[in-house]
Amino acid sequence: MDIRKVSVIGAGQMGNGIAHVFSLSGYEVLLHDVSEAALAKAVKSIDFNLNRQVSAGRISEADKADALRQITAVNHLSECGKADLVIEAVTERETVKAAIFEDLTPHLLPGTILTTNTSSISITRLASRTDRPERFMGFHFMNPVPVMQLVELIRGIATDEHTYQTLKTVVEQLGKTPASASDFPGFIVNRVLMPMINEAVYVLLEGIGSVEAIDSSMRLGANHPMGPLQLADFIGLDTCLAIMNVLFDGLGDSKYRPCPLLTKYVEAKWLGRKTRRGFYDYSGETPVPTR
Ligand code: CAA
Repeated sequence: MDIRKVSVIGAGQMGNGIAHVFSLSGYEVLLHDVSEAALAKAVKSIDFNLNRQVSAGRISEADKADALRQITAVNHLSECGKADLVIEAVTERETVKAAIFEDLTPHLLPGTILTTNTSSISITRLASRTDRPERFMGFHFMNPVPVMQLVELIRGIATDEHTYQTLKTVVEQLGKTPASASDFPGFIVNRVLMPMINEAVYVLLEGIGSVEAIDSSMRLGANHPMGPLQLADFIGLDTCLAIMNVLFDGLGDSKYRPCPLLTKYVEAKWLGRKTRRGFYDYSGETPVPTR
């Protein structure tokens, strides 16, 4: 199946990154968000991030202009149905995602492939809320999308081979690398990454190390590009907590219990970079550790 037109639902940090890479690879992109302000901000972020690639000599000014021309911001969800491929990238809450698929279903073309960028929720369960579980898949991009090489491809129990092969080809056309994962909580990346981040928060809670000591230990001692607390702030502490809850509920093992300090930060709405406070304070020029 030839994919040309792609709808991206949700214009947050994942949605705008996904729109960015598809438009740069020549796909026609419809970008939707319930918030008009979020849509306008997303288009600005794409412009800013394309400029970073122009400055680094990775793309030309003409490539940037072509990419921006490929993107249309749409205000109504129903407009997203008329596409070859839909990528849902809204907040990590199953009720919100399921409602979007239900609302979108009557507006779809017969052959439209539906995907979700969920980082951990059951693909099979989300697929069952649509009229086409065989053409439904998990399509999990990593943040920052224009930089990260990997895309996880997750088949639900009903996903057909044709859908899988079509998306694998799309990932290759984007210049990225697919990894196939089974539909179990957290798939591969978050099953491994989130318990590490959660453990780092326990290490902080237990006073074993400060924010700075924990992050520099993992940066310098394990060669991670970011320390686990810095990475948690980058991903969003609400998203980290949501994923830990999916692992805990779905796998039923106490080793996945979310750290109470992570829960406390989310209760305080200290969600990381996006709220300018998490394990670091981002209100000044350089992030300052808060513990
Ligand atoms: N768009 C385009 N280019 C970008 C970009 C963006 N959004 N963000 C960074 N870049 C570019 C920069 O312009 C820079 O380019 P040059 O090398 O050409 O100068 C390059 O990427 C490196 O960026 P910086 O110099 O700003 O900073 P850095 O070297 O510290 O790298 C980073 C930043 C790429 C984010 C790096 O710190 C990193 O890899 N961090 C780990 C990220 C990670 O683990 N992501 C996965 C999170 S998990 C996930 O997403 C799944 C989930 O479900 C939760």
